Amino acid sequence: MEQTFIMIKPDGVQRGLVGEIISRFEKKGFSLKGLKFINVDSAFAEKHYADLSAKPFFHGLVEYIISGPVVAMVWEGKNVVVTGRKIIGATNPSESAPGTIRGDFAIEIGRNVIHGSDSVESARKEIGLWFPDGTVPWKSSLHPWIYE
Ligand code: GTP
Ligand code: MG
Repeated sequence: MEQTFIMIKPDGVQRGLVGEIISRFEKKGFSLKGLKFINVDSAFAEKHYADLSAKPFFHGLVEYIISGPVVAMVWEGKNVVVTGRKIIGATNPSESAPGTIRGDFAIEIGRNVIHGSDSVESARKEIGLWFPDGTVPWKSSLHPWIYE
């Protein structure tokens, strides 16, 4: 089944939003397949955001991501990439709808609490980068109550 990479950024950790964010993905019905609480260095953050290296905010983005520990996760479920992005909300919190994570908990684009892969292909790459030793294979016993 489809997987996505979700990261709670350092501001989300510092602000005590870890439980709330995990809860939103769990309650939706998605399955947690990988979870790590780590500090990353700038070389790693640059790799993760390599597609944005030409942007003027790139340096600030890397400094932000390495400013404290992050929660790196793999979530699995039908359409989890697109639905995960909907749960997260628009990149700029001033445009994210109330009810989304960024809409509810963030104000500025440079402190937007959470990352989610933007495509199945990016998810595959990001999961490979963050979880090189693989994820945890298991199947929730609630599967038949969530999927028809
Ligand atoms: P991620 O899930 O973090 O990848 O965000 P996104 O996919 O919604 O947006 P994108 O990949 O384009 O940008 C990555 C991150 O860079 C954003 O989440 C922001 O934290 C930051 N960012 C994007 N655009 C800007 C900007 O114009 N200014 C600043 N300061 N940060 C930006
Ligand atoms: Mg992105």
